This record gives sequence, C-alpha cells and structure tokens, in this order.
Amino acid sequence: MSKTIAGFSKFSKEQKIEWIANEYFSAPEEAISLLKNYWNTNTSLQKLHDEFIENTITNFYLPLGIAPNFVINGREYTIPMAVEESSVVAAAAKAAKFWAKRGGFKATVINTEKIGQVHFIFNGDFGKLSSFFNKIKALFFEGTQDLTKNMQARGGGILDIELRDKTADLANYYQLHATFETKDSMGANFINSCLERFSKILKEATLNEDSFTEDEKHIEVIMSILSNYVPGCIVRAEVSCPVEELHEDASVSAAAFADKFLTAVKIAEIEPFRAVTHNKGIMNGIDAVVVATGNDFRAVEAGVHAYASKSGQYSSLSHAKVENGIFTFWMEIPLALGTVGGLTTLHPLVKFCLEMLGKPSAPELMQIVAVAGLAQNFAALRSLTTTGIQQGHMKMHLMNILNQLGANDPEKKQAIKHFEKNTVSHSAVADYITDLRKNDPSKIEEDFLQ
Ligand code: MEV
Repeated sequence: MSKTIAGFSKFSKEQKIEWIANEYFSAPEEAISLLKNYWNTNTSLQKLHDEFIENTITNFYLPLGIAPNFVINGREYTIPMAVEESSVVAAAAKAAKFWAKRGGFKATVINTEKIGQVHFIFNGDFGKLSSFFNKIKALFFEGTQDLTKNMQARGGGILDIELRDKTADLANYYQLHATFETKDSMGANFINSCLERFSKILKEATLNEDSFTEDEKHIEVIMSILSNYVPGCIVRAEVSCPVEELHEDASVSAAAFADKFLTAVKIAEIEPFRAVTHNKGIMNGIDAVVVATGNDFRAVEAGVHAYASKSGQYSSLSHAKVENGIFTFWMEIPLALGTVGGLTTLHPLVKFCLEMLGKPSAPELMQIVAVAGLAQNFAALRSLTTTGIQQGHMKMHLMNILNQLGANDPEKKQAIKHFEKNTVSHSAVADYITDLRKNDPSKIEEDFLQ
C-alpha cells in the first residue's frame, strides 16, 4: 500500500506521530512513547524547538561536551563540542593540554570576504553588456540601500560587484559576482536578499536599455545565490615548539616523533585517499564547535572540502615543518561563521555555548573553530604515528559497548578498570561481561541475554 500522504504539514504534531507510528511500526504505541520520551517537559522550550523546522515530531539528542585548557593567542578557553563520536572531545582536551604547556595556539584571521552570484543568460554582444554593466553598476548599490543600511552601520555591506564572462564554459552564461562583508553574521540571508534585488535591478535596467536588441533586452536570470566557497574568508591556526619539547612519551624520541609526524602530513598532502580521512579528523573538531555554536556545518563542510581541492587535487588542509629546530604545525581554512543572527539568539544551548566562549565576534569564533580542528588533527596524527588510533578510540568507545551489552553500573566500573590494561574490542568486552556474570549470576541483565 502506498504511504503517500497529502496535506501532512497541516496535521497536528500528535496526528503526524500517529500516522508515522501506524504506517511504519509493528508496535505503534511503543514508537509513540519513544518519540514522546524525548519531548521536553518545558512546553515553551519544546515549542521553540518544534518551530525550528517543518514536521517536527521530537528532539534528536547529540551530547554537548566541553574541552577545557585551550590557550588561543594567550587567552584561555573552554570549547563546547556537540558530537556523537566517542573520542573527539577527549582528543581535543588532550591536545589542548599538551599545547597549553608549549605556548598555546596562535590564530589569525586573514580575511572575511563572502561571495554571492547572480547567474544569467544573455544572448548578445559581451562588449555591449560590459559597458552597460559599468553604466548601471551604481544602481545595484543604490537599489539595495534599504537592505544594506543596518549592515553598513555595523561596518559591513556590499564590497564590489563584477561582471564575469563565463561563455567559454557555457554558451551565453554570465555572472554578477559580488563580494560582501557581513561582520558578525554569517550573512546568508543578507547576501541572498541583496542578490535577488540585483537580479531585479538587472532585469529592469536591461529591458529599458535602448542600445540593446530585443534579444539582448530579455536576459534570463537562472538563479541568485551566495557561494559557500569562501576562499576570501580565511583563518590560520598554528602551533609550534622546539622539537625536543615535542614529545612526552619516553618510548620514542622527540626527533623521531617529529619526523614521523611530518611524513604523515606529507602523505596527506600527496595522497587523496589519506587526505580525505586526515581532513575528516580536522572536521571532527570543526563541526562539533560549529554545531554547538549554532552555525551551518553543511556550509562549512562544503566550503572547506572545496578549498582542500583548490590546487586541482584534493589535499591535506594542514601542514607541518621543522626549521632551525622548531616544529610548526598549521592550517589555513575558509570559515564563514556567525555569532549574531540565525540560531545564535534562539537556541538556548547555542546562547550558552557562545557565552561560555566569552561572546566572541565572528572572526574570534573563526579562530576558535580552526584551533579545534587543528587540535583534533594533532591528536589524531599523534595517536596514528605512535600507539595507533584504536587504543584511545576503543577506550572511549568502551562505554558504548558496555551500554550495548546492557552492563549495569558495578559491571561498568569493573570493566573500565579491567580495560585500562587490556585491549578493548567488542568481543573482548562481551567475554569479560559474560565471565563476570558467570561468577555472579545475580548481575545478569535481561537485555544482555537477548
Ligand atoms: C576518526 O574519526 C578520525 C581519524 O580517522 C582521523 C585521521 O585518520 O587522521 C582518526
């Protein structure tokens, strides 16, 4: 039977849940009660979350963790991270502590320019279009003053608008390529509103241009939209220290560690299969802070990976060198972030996270996020080139395995102690819990036996 439904968005939340439960679940009452278990008892808070999106049926939790001891440009931060992967917060905290003892992280915002484009088709002569564009260029600024007024008062606005000839790639295809400064807002709505106005101005002015033929007068705007590729909105994060201070573990010399670390980074620079995983590790840190601060992680992901391919081959975002005995590890990445607008004042936990970070400006948040990414990358590379990733990863994953096995608190306590000195794997934990319960059958939990 078809599950297509008309007018679903008009249903009440209860009706939506009932429909879903009856259509898709063998035990509808159980499904309904699961969804309702995740509702907040504070009805106004629940309503706020319901209204973020369409067709909300419940909340979907992500843990919010904090990584303390970050020192960035001499200032201490505790960084909020919303992420489901067990080892991410622990790794960030470990790297933060390591680098706090070595002068901390340095971060610099290189530029903050955002981009938007009006994509259009013009059947005519480029020379004519170009002189027409130069003649009417001021109209784009004048005709958007109602939209740009507030942004200008905050020091932002439209920086420039260029006409770009793209006909070598697609017949009759041109762009208005505009650059913006959006200060502390991410700026998506501002940019898109300006672009849609540009498109209107362009169409009207073209229609009224006497020098154009009838064909030329009827330009076709295909779309007006910001670009999430922001190579003019770059932040640099960096750590450095003398090589001999680099390693704490006596089992390997600091110089050997530095060598291996540099080779690992080099591999990510030249080998796309490794680069993707290397950069994924960076995004573990970046996305977690981006989500916790109410920013758009899809936009950040898209822009960062495009930047990682800017040479024509996908490559590492981070780099490392040793010069005159000094180890330096750094990364430059594009980040379009906001600390005002969007969810920043709406989502109570986003507000909380931003306050915890000292209510940063957007450039300061760019620095914090980039540092979280670099810290994560350092932690991953340090584990990968020394103990291997699984030791730390599985230690952090131990609690998930214990929960899957239905371990109770005393069992968890004993297992954690046991696995301090033993290798964690799903089967090793299962065997350990089985043995534990054999010795004391009263500890057997029902769901463990299922
Ligand atoms: C796992 O989430 C991230 C790592 O794979 C990153 C890396 O390999 O560099 C550990």
